[in-house]
Amino acid sequence: MNIKQVILQAFHDQPDRFISGEELSQMCGCSRTAVWKHMEELRRDGYEVEAVRKSGYRLVAAPDRLSAAEVTAGLGTQRIGQQVFAYDEVISTQPLAHDAATKGAPEGTLVLAELQTGGKGRLGRPWHSPKGSGIWMSLIVRPVIPLPKTPQMTLLTAVCVAQSIREETGLPVKIKWPNDIFIGDKKVCGILTELHAESDRVHYLVIGIGINVNSVSADFPADLAQIATSLRIESGQPVNRIRLIQRFCRIFESWYDHFLQDGFQQIKENWEAHSYTIGRDVSVQTISQKLEGRAIGLDEAGVLLVRDESGHVHKVYSADVNY
Ligand code: BTN
Repeated sequence: MNIKQVILQAFHDQPDRFISGEELSQMCGCSRTAVWKHMEELRRDGYEVEAVRKSGYRLVAAPDRLSAAEVTAGLGTQRIGQQVFAYDEVISTQPLAHDAATKGAPEGTLVLAELQTGGKGRLGRPWHSPKGSGIWMSLIVRPVIPLPKTPQMTLLTAVCVAQSIREETGLPVKIKWPNDIFIGDKKVCGILTELHAESDRVHYLVIGIGINVNSVSADFPADLAQIATSLRIESGQPVNRIRLIQRFCRIFESWYDHFLQDGFQQIKENWEAHSYTIGRDVSVQTISQKLEGRAIGLDEAGVLLVRDESGHVHKVYSADVNY
């Protein structure tokens, strides 16, 4: 941790309390003058820090800005989110995460941006990523699993995002196969998993997560306004992005460890329990065929099972699903 991170961690651990310059200088292993300089820097970054002679420093307010120091302060995970690259503006966090991964970034590294000018969605679609109102992030993971199991990581991520949103906001989110998060009939989050692998070995996955957090209706272009929503629109109040990211990191680490040790079964059950898809009549468009039927569940591998009119059960690996 650098000095700024240590100071933010101290503020986080002792909210509302004044921490003396002496105490902070010991925690940081630097002089009181250096502590003072870092306070000035935090103020320039938008933090409101109160300084009272003989009492010390107290954090009054943090900026609504995604920074590595904010995400890591008080995070409490072992790996997920421990390394963060935060940017103001990028084309997309996905290629930056690939770049970091090939240069050896550790598992759990997060790449975040306030704005994406060329956000990528599934199937080559664009992903609307306006400044400051969403969570646009890419997570690097390095699971030692066979290639056919990698789609399970996407379903696992959807379970984790849904749980994080539910716990942080109380909103009744559902998962639309394979990995869209819905509130009512509108999408609030999309997940894009990209893979770097050989035929028998996964090198790493970059899991891109886009959550519409604090957008208001006017922020969505007309074509999206009908089909997309945000946590703020649904809950009627702004949602703290840092807290949501931190909650996601903790939940992801716990489910991911479970997955690596005990496999997919419990994740599958959780996915099905919060599914928007299961039990519905669906129209499925794969690369090669169109299929109508009822979505009846996932198989052990995470493949969607759709029963057609004649009772035949089809396995759907990759497709667009409509209702
Ligand atoms: C989808 O539903 O089509 C997937 C959307 C994924 C969007 C996220 S935002 C962060 C990361 N960077 C991108 O360019 N895309 C993903």
